[in-house]
Amino acid sequence: MMRSAFIQISIAAAALWLGFLCLTNRDEGASWNQSGYNVARATETADDRMIVVSCVGDSITAGGGASAPNMTYVSQLSRALGAGFNVTGYGVSSTTMLKHGLCSKDTTHCEGLCAYWNTTAYQRVIASQPDVITIMLGTNDAKGCNWWGPPNGSPSGVAYHAAYVDMVKIFQSLPSKPRVYLVIPPPLVNPPTHPDDPPVWNMSKQVLNEIIPKELPKLLVETGAAGVIDVWTALGGTDGYEQPSMTADGCHPKDPAAAIIAQAIAEAIQKDQGGKTAAD
Ligand SMILES: *[C@@H]1O[C@H](CO)[C@@H](O)[C@H](O)[C@H]1NC(C)=O
Ligand SMILES: *[C@@H]1O[C@H](CO)[C@@H](O)[C@H](O)[C@H]1NC(C)=O
Ligand SMILES: *[C@@H]1O[C@H](CO)[C@@H](O)[C@H](O)[C@H]1NC(C)=O
Ligand SMILES: *[C@@H]1O[C@H](CO)[C@@H](O)[C@H](O)[C@H]1NC(C)=O
Ligand SMILES: *[C@@H]1O[C@H](CO)[C@@H](O)[C@H](O)[C@H]1NC(C)=O
Repeated sequence: MMRSAFIQISIAAAALWLGFLCLTNRDEGASWNQSGYNVARATETADDRMIVVSCVGDSITAGGGASAPNMTYVSQLSRALGAGFNVTGYGVSSTTMLKHGLCSKDTTHCEGLCAYWNTTAYQRVIASQPDVITIMLGTNDAKGCNWWGPPNGSPSGVAYHAAYVDMVKIFQSLPSKPRVYLVIPPPLVNPPTHPDDPPVWNMSKQVLNEIIPKELPKLLVETGAAGVIDVWTALGGTDGYEQPSMTADGCHPKDPAAAIIAQAIAEAIQKDQGGKTAAD
């Protein structure tokens, strides 16, 4: 009698303890459902749920060629993506992907360090807790003194390739684990209003219209980045770009061209709903 009572009490105690364990467990596990999704964090950060898009680039990303600050491709991208996205441009004029890229002093002379790596914008991208990063760099790398000169190593192109891989890997390893897109820059043509003039700043048509468009798909495979966004083709290549409505100087996009760039980037980001979504 005593003995069976003791056993019953023991069983009851064990059941209580197990029940307690289960409850504790359930509490601790409550923030993670079967897909490993941190449900608690998702609700806690309700105010923080905009998808942060950080756009890396040069003067094209800074808005050179646009008629107003709200017509740059970054501003148009922000409007195209809508309220769930916080899009910020981190473009810096004259900058290169090359770590030792030179600035154009004038059309006959390059000097000084114009690497994107050495800008405060680069540091701000790193600190931006991005969900998405777009990289559009190469237009200044295509200057004769950069692509075909000492900054780009030997054979020409190896330093661009290596720097690109490094930058993508640095971005991919940020704590926010952003999806990184490699954007093929706009075509390079002669200035439509002065078709007999060469491209501005001694930039190379071969580099921007032939070499870099083939290079980025290789970089995508090598880095496992989220995708290539082919703005070059979206703009119609050199044929589509070579008109005064698209570009004034043959390099920087005017508003209608910026709209095409924004649309191409928005489509790539929106198509990617397998990645981060506004609830993530
Ligand atoms: C986990 O939670 C997320 C966010 O609430 C939801 O989208 C997903 O469907 C859930 N998965 C499971 C297996 O419950
Ligand atoms: C851009 O800004 C100008 C004022 O500078 C304004 O008149 C115009 O409506 C704005 N356009 C868009 C599309 O927001
Ligand atoms: C968007 O991001 C920028 C840069 O981080 C920040 O200053 C701004 O407050 C954000 N805007 C919104 C609406 O969250
Ligand atoms: C430029 O940046 C690189 C890497 O971010 C750094 O190693 C180098 O010291 C910087 N150079 C100058 C001149 O600031
Ligand atoms: C212009 O580019 C060519 C190669 O495309 C190069 O040989 C030449 O030195 C460059 N000129 C200047 C001033 O940078």
